[in-house]
Amino acid sequence: DFIDLLSRVTPDLLQGTVVTLQIAAISLILGMIVGLPVGIGRVYGPVWLQRLLGAYITLFQGTPLLIQLFTVYYGLPDVGITLGRLQAAFLTLGLNSAAYQAEYLRSALQSVSEGQMVAARAIGMSKWQAIWSVVLPQALRLALPAWSNEAIAMLKYTSVVFLIAVPDLMGQAKILASRYFAPIQIYLIVAVFYIALVGIAYLILTMIERRVRIPGLTGDVG
Ligand code: ARG
Repeated sequence: DFIDLLSRVTPDLLQGTVVTLQIAAISLILGMIVGLPVGIGRVYGPVWLQRLLGAYITLFQGTPLLIQLFTVYYGLPDVGITLGRLQAAFLTLGLNSAAYQAEYLRSALQSVSEGQMVAARAIGMSKWQAIWSVVLPQALRLALPAWSNEAIAMLKYTSVVFLIAVPDLMGQAKILASRYFAPIQIYLIVAVFYIALVGIAYLILTMIERRVRIPGLTGDVG
């Protein structure tokens, strides 16, 4: 019966959950490491750089994630770059998330009032000093709600990696569904796993958001 099935599949699904969390975390961090400079360059860089970064963002936001994954995993070996399944997953999801994170940062940077930059320059800071120590810290706090959405979206987007045989939560689900001939029950259980992950992430992120909120700064009514 259902309880019996649940107890049989739970260990494998927990293993898959660990893989899913790993992929989501590493991709988000990679996305931040790449997305931060891309977002800054997009706003403050020379025009040629802004265009180039714009093209990168358009490429990753304008094509299906699955095609990006297949290109990295099956296409890059043709040009001499062969990646393992997990490496391909990290790289694809990381570069994909970077494009989104860069855009969230760009809009946050642009919504910090211009007077902040003017004032920083007036007390003798260089342009980059002003960006780094005056505008960016405020922008990062403004970008946090968008970043939370991104983190939650990434938790779910990781599921595409089962198509290159990564044993994430979705990958385990696929295997278990055919092993027990019970697709409906298994996918229902897996959906509950994903909702639990998203719910926990949501609670943690909302808590952090409440802490770093800047009273009175753009759009804040709380
Ligand atoms: N911003 C959109 C959302 O609210 C899409 C985010 C997708 N992120 C990604 N890395 N593909 O879900």
